Amino acid sequence: MSIPTNLKVVVLGESGVGKSSVVLRFITNVFNPTSEATLGASFVGKALSFNDKILKFNIWDTAGQEKYHSLAKMYYRDADAAIMVYDITKRDSFNGLKKWYEELKENGPRDIVVAIAGNKEDLVENEAVSPQDAKAYADSIGAIFRKTSAKTCTGIDQIFKDIALKIF
Ligand code: GTP
Ligand code: MG
Repeated sequence: MSIPTNLKVVVLGESGVGKSSVVLRFITNVFNPTSEATLGASFVGKALSFNDKILKFNIWDTAGQEKYHSLAKMYYRDADAAIMVYDITKRDSFNGLKKWYEELKENGPRDIVVAIAGNKEDLVENEAVSPQDAKAYADSIGAIFRKTSAKTCTGIDQIFKDIALKIF
């Protein structure tokens, strides 16, 4: 096995959509039903073996609360990938992705890989965004789309693998 390849991933989206929960599930395979709002940003890492390579995901989990918004841009720089998260039960959190995407395009690298996570898939009975709409939006910006649930694990490893596949 070779030296790890570092991948910087920034996680974006409105407060409460489950960014920290998706990251926690990916890193430690745990779900915290009383997860608290992130202050500023938090940084975590995980290595995965992938096609004979070791990939080290260096993840910046940003805070969605408006008061931290100006900070988020700092994390876009040099990012290899971004995961834009919305909550499938909250239409506004999906509509808001446009704004995050524009900001990412303004401040991030031109060839950044973008993935959209429609999170809280376990609450599908309260779904407010059809997967077709989400997929159409993802296609329009050339982004990966996955439904995820930090609670049940759905789609979590897959979205990181999709990103790795697109980069390598
Ligand atoms: P900020 O840090 O403020 O930007 O919020 P965040 O996007 O990091 O949200 P966080 O991960 O803290 O989750 C907010 C709430 O949603 C918590 O109560 C989580 O337990 C819950 N949550 C997160 N993911 C899921 C999920 O997939 N399913 C369900 N049912 N609840 C979830
Ligand atoms: Mg958070």
